[in-house]
Amino acid sequence: MSLKIAILGAGPSGLAQLRSFVSAQLAAHEEMPEIVCFEKQSDLGGMWNYTWRTGLDKHGEPVHGSMYRYLWSNGPKECLEFADYSFDEHFGRAIPSYPPREVLKNYVMGRIERKDVRQYIRFETAVRWVSFDEHTQRFSVTVMDHQTDQLHSEEFDFVVVATGHFSTPNVPYFPGVERFPGRVLHAHDFRDALEFKDKDLLLVGSSYSAEDIGTQCHKYGAKSVTFSYRSRPLGYDWPAGITEVPLLERLDGNVAHFSDGSSKAVDAIILCTGYQHSFPFLPDDLRLQTRNRLYPQSLYKGILWESNPRLIYLGMQDQYFTFNMFDAQAWYARDVMLGRIPLPDAATMQADMQDWLSREEALANASAEIDFQAAYVRDLLQPTDYPEFAVEAQGELFKRWKQDKKVDIMGYRNQCYTSTVTGTAAPELPAPWLEILDDSLEHFLSHDYAGVVGEPVEQV
Ligand SMILES: Cc1cc2nc3c(=O)[nH]c(=O)nc-3n(C[C@H](O)[C@H](O)[C@H](O)COP(=O)(O)OP(=O)(O)OC[C@H]3O[C@@H](n4cnc5c(N)ncnc54)[C@H](O)[C@@H]3O)c2cc1C
Ligand SMILES: NC(=O)c1ccc[n+]([C@@H]2O[C@H](COP(=O)([O-])OP(=O)(O)OC[C@H]3O[C@@H](n4cnc5c(N)ncnc54)[C@H](OP(=O)(O)O)[C@@H]3O)[C@@H](O)[C@H]2O)c1
Repeated sequence: MSLKIAILGAGPSGLAQLRSFVSAQLAAHEEMPEIVCFEKQSDLGGMWNYTWRTGLDKHGEPVHGSMYRYLWSNGPKECLEFADYSFDEHFGRAIPSYPPREVLKNYVMGRIERKDVRQYIRFETAVRWVSFDEHTQRFSVTVMDHQTDQLHSEEFDFVVVATGHFSTPNVPYFPGVERFPGRVLHAHDFRDALEFKDKDLLLVGSSYSAEDIGTQCHKYGAKSVTFSYRSRPLGYDWPAGITEVPLLERLDGNVAHFSDGSSKAVDAIILCTGYQHSFPFLPDDLRLQTRNRLYPQSLYKGILWESNPRLIYLGMQDQYFTFNMFDAQAWYARDVMLGRIPLPDAATMQADMQDWLSREEALANASAEIDFQAAYVRDLLQPTDYPEFAVEAQGELFKRWKQDKKVDIMGYRNQCYTSTVTGTAAPELPAPWLEILDDSLEHFLSHDYAGVVGEPVEQV
């Protein structure tokens, strides 16, 4: 009997898993498993599907999307390029290093649409519960099929959890917030910077969401942006109109009071306070519980559930590398499921995990974090047939990106990088990013970019 595999979620991670099987060169003794991918949205793409909805979707399911209008990639596209599908191949020409959301989505979907993976996906089907039977060694997956309005269960040999971890907001409480007269929302529900034009805006948090939403609101005309940090400030050289203060302590009407004794009257508050790893469809003994970190605990090779490696998690780490790391994970997971990569005994798996965890805990700065994640991706790639790509050279691009942001936080997206896959040097944006207000695919591709196509970069 062939293997039966459930993939939960059809975002970039779930799609990487599907693609890994579709492109597998099966040996004579191997059989293509039966694969079912359950996706609660009506299309594939995961987080990259923009939705105007917030709260609940049309079926009453929590809205997955946290992306917003005018979102541009916050890292260079050269750091997330697929080894087996370059940007040049997809667009037929060179494009700038920082594309808007719709352009990146188009690229990710382009690779997928070339293979018939939709046949494996059951859309508008939300996973409700997963259980494991020790006796049969199989999982039962219960789903709500919103197209038929039926709840039903099916058995599987493996379950791949690819439901993402930037969707369920972490919402702290600040005294006085219940009497704040303006709008208070989490970054998950932020959709359009124009809503905050001419407003004094307070953003709590000092990571990517705060930085990106704050700079975007500044770009689209917010009167002022105040970032409030808990551990450390973002620390950039901000233009007039943007300031950083320590943690919000309380609200008195519309006046925000901070821990350094300063205060400011604000019109709206956006909580950019991160997300929870949330798996309401998993029992305690199968459920990953972690903060947002580079090496979540209890996952061998960052993907296989330690106490039951038939349960696989993709994309659960904090991310420098994204799409190509999901590929590396998916290819490794595929080879474990096909029996090509034998798993060592429990003690060896435990020691391997402990080694990665100790290394992660010793990381001193962003540069070391990037090297760590590059080494992790390299470790996964080694035993698989995923096309060789310059992971370490991409890591060096990430370090340059960090430096570029330090030099000019409002202008780093004007920089150009060289692809490690094709050697193509990215052309410049037609105008500084700060001046481009139209983020549509049509507008972005309407320019005649004159890129230089070269040789792929040598391996480090
Ligand atoms: C605001 C924001 C901006 C970002 N910008 C970038 C960027 O510029 N570049 C970059 O590389 N990365 C970016 N990311 C990271 C992004 O999360 C990853 O690029 C990628 O989307 C992760 O893929 P995933 O498949 O693991 O998860 P997701 O994309 O989140 O996909 C998970 C899928 O699982 C489905 N699902 C969830 N629960 C269920 C259920 N119970 N039943 C059935 N289906 C379910 C969801 O509907 C979704 O389709 C950004 C993230 C956020 C939040
Ligand atoms: N344009 C883009 O591409 C774009 C835009 C937005 C987001 N993203 C992506 O989205 C992902 C998530 O980023 P994120 O910034 O939402 O989450 P995150 O990186 O996990 O950061 C969470 C932030 O919330 C703060 N925080 C948590 N609890 C808090 C509390 N009780 N009080 C005050 N502050 C608190 C944290 O502070 P501490 O440091 O003190 O813990 C941290 O600054 C990232 O992968 C990012 O790349 C991309």
